[in-house]
Amino acid sequence: MQVDMVKLICFSPTGTTRKILRGLAAGMQAAQVEEIDLTPPDACSKEVVELGSELAVMGMPVYAGRLPPEAVARLQRLRGNQTPAVLVVVYGNRAYEDALLELSDLASAAGFVPVAGGAFIGEHSFTSDAAPLSVGRPDAVDLAKAAQFGESVHAKLEGMTSLDDLSPLVLPGNRPYRDLKQWENLMPETDEALCTLCGDCADVCPTGAVTVKDSVQTDGEKCIVCCACIKVCPTGARMMHNKRILKTANWLFENCSERREPEVFL
Ligand SMILES: Cc1cc2nc3c(=O)[nH]c(=O)nc-3n(C[C@H](O)[C@H](O)[C@H](O)COP(=O)(O)O)c2cc1C
Repeated sequence: MQVDMVKLICFSPTGTTRKILRGLAAGMQAAQVEEIDLTPPDACSKEVVELGSELAVMGMPVYAGRLPPEAVARLQRLRGNQTPAVLVVVYGNRAYEDALLELSDLASAAGFVPVAGGAFIGEHSFTSDAAPLSVGRPDAVDLAKAAQFGESVHAKLEGMTSLDDLSPLVLPGNRPYRDLKQWENLMPETDEALCTLCGDCADVCPTGAVTVKDSVQTDGEKCIVCCACIKVCPTGARMMHNKRILKTANWLFENCSERREPEVFL
């Protein structure tokens, strides 16, 4: 099977998943690479996208061992037609639990055929100076591994005449999946003394939860605690004061600092 067109499909509020998908595409030597970004707020309202024989590379971050429900809702816009798919989850060096299996199940239900899966590591959204978590990842080593994975997927597809030659992909994870974690009313706050009202926080918010007029307002019902606004803030005015999140970040720092490496399934 020849792969001429690769479609990179991602939900990636803080950009680490997008980086891994691009690294993977670099190793695939496809003639054409296009991106479908499910991250901006309007991605959920757009029309259904139908894919054909191109290779879909789907990437999602891991939230509490699952896929973020907001990302799952946006993924429902995609329909495959026996479309081969590579499934990628990116997690913050703790664990990805059922997320990769969940992504594979969703893709299969939407008409895609899973051909390979991968779990990569990205800088944890909850990182801070006080509790640094997988800072700077994916780094050069991770991106080289992503490119290598792309090469292996390419070789696997080239070695097949049709998707009928494929043996079922076995991925880690359990069904039923872990319960979804509730993050209600946990949202970043703004230090007005530091805030310049530049609006970068609103621009980067994937759910349109942040509005900026003469102060920054955050809608706790819409916020998914992705922390993109904290990472993008040029003056450090956006921060998380919530005790539950700070406690989690400290626990992660104490218990999950040992470097984990990407895993691939072919
Ligand atoms: C609400 C929330 C829950 C998370 N849960 C996990 C988790 O269960 N395991 C883990 O290792 N990382 C977890 N992370 C970290 C993200 O998976 C990680 O930072 C990822 O690289 C973010 O992807 P993005 O840059 O594409 O947004 C969580 C992040 C957030 C915001």
